[in-house]
Amino acid sequence: MYNEIDLNKIDLAAEPPAEEPSRQYYFMAKCRERVREFEQTYGRRPTACVTTFGCQMNARDSEKLRGILEQAGYQEAETEEADFVIYNTCTVRENANNKVYGRLGSLGARKKKHPQMKIALCGCMMQEPTVVEKLKASYGFVDLIFGTHNIYKFAELLYLALENQGMVIDLWEDTDRIVEDLPVERKYSFKSGVNIMFGCNNFCSYCIVPYVRGRERSRSHKDIVKEIRGLVSDGVSEVMLLGQNVNSYGKNLPEPITFAQLLKELEKIEGLKRIRFMTSHPKDLSQELIDTMAASEKICRHLHLPLQSGSSRILKEMNRRYTREQYLELVGRIRAAMPEIAITTDIIVGFPGETEEDFQETMDVVRKVQYDSAFTFIYSKRTGTPAAAMEDQVPEEVIKARFDRLLAEVQQIAARKAEALTGQVQTLLVEEVNRQDASLVSGRLGNNSVVHIPGDASMIGTYVRVQLDECKGFYYYGKAV
Ligand code: SAH
Ligand code: SF4
Ligand code: F3S
Repeated sequence: MYNEIDLNKIDLAAEPPAEEPSRQYYFMAKCRERVREFEQTYGRRPTACVTTFGCQMNARDSEKLRGILEQAGYQEAETEEADFVIYNTCTVRENANNKVYGRLGSLGARKKKHPQMKIALCGCMMQEPTVVEKLKASYGFVDLIFGTHNIYKFAELLYLALENQGMVIDLWEDTDRIVEDLPVERKYSFKSGVNIMFGCNNFCSYCIVPYVRGRERSRSHKDIVKEIRGLVSDGVSEVMLLGQNVNSYGKNLPEPITFAQLLKELEKIEGLKRIRFMTSHPKDLSQELIDTMAASEKICRHLHLPLQSGSSRILKEMNRRYTREQYLELVGRIRAAMPEIAITTDIIVGFPGETEEDFQETMDVVRKVQYDSAFTFIYSKRTGTPAAAMEDQVPEEVIKARFDRLLAEVQQIAARKAEALTGQVQTLLVEEVNRQDASLVSGRLGNNSVVHIPGDASMIGTYVRVQLDECKGFYYYGKAV
């Protein structure tokens, strides 16, 4: 943690401060009192487990939850057999919700045997009123529910839940607030996600994210630079800039700044070696960004550029605001500037009204672009989005068959692209000891490919020149050279 506030010096007899983040540090200290009482009763520290569903945005939020729990005195638990369990939920597709309900059932059974246990839920799924109704009706054992807009209040809400019996619920519809300088417990010592913006204004017609994450808000570039400088002095050399549409970063700031200008600022930070970002919306990807990437030593040669569909007609229905021709032209310009760049994507199969011809157009773009990898999703109807009300929902078996064809194509292309790099020497950031074989370490290349090489834990966080000896489809075996 790079933000040092001594919780022992906070006067707990005083009223809680009104301003943030001081108010939250006050409640962290209050929670610490409760934790001490727990220790006296049970002869050990209470344990806490944070379980994350969904995207990197949620993963980063979970690091903030862990940071606060650590400050409050909890010991991190590896499993959900803990005194405090919190699910940071996702609702982008129906199966994300189903997973949460399923696991909540088993947590409830555990709580019956351990009544002192506390269960909390937060994240995107909690921003849906129907979900909260269902939880109130059928999951009464949950102690705390909050959403995406007030996650910075976690310390205060945790304290309320520890003090109270029954369900504490705090949900906000939206916010324009960004609270800086809360503690964070990072998963990796050498790399970190960094939020550069929150929310989304794009309202793609299938997508629930704008409803559950609220309107787009950019952090000031000064706060971002300050955070990254702090991370670098704490040992971080790779950052992943996070936002639903990083290409529109800065547009609504009092002093507007472009994403490319932000990148140029970050490039200057000494000790920072790799810059990644996601996600890039094709409609806002500027030539300035392409030129900035091409001229950069630090920005990784990887672009995640969600296609969603290759049919201009479906793209219009999706409210994506680009055509297949514009997308292909953009990819052409990116590849012309950076021939070695890896391009990855997201594709939805079975959007309402998708015909075989539309699907063929998607397959055609996939073949033309030659993606290095692609996440393929079966369209999931999200109540409240415009697409959910569209007639002509595609039958399940048709979607499934198309999905399988797309997946086969995507995998074949990805394997061929990966194979083509065999024999090359590239730079690897070593991330961890291989989970299956402890004589190997695993890491990522700039283009995001995974490589396993012989090594040991002392190499974690270091950059190694490696030769890619053998391609295994989605990853490589190699050796340091
Ligand atoms: N902001 C990012 C996407 C965030 S959601 C972007 O615009 O690229 C991640 C991916 O989930 C999306 O790219 C989309 O492919 C998929 N997705 C979103 N809503 C979906 C839905 N209702 N059904 C299926 N997939 C969906
Ligand atoms: Fe969803 Fe579209 Fe926003 Fe991405 S850009 S989060 S797909 S609405
Ligand atoms: Fe899911 Fe929320 Fe991310 S809905 S994909 S966790 S923004």
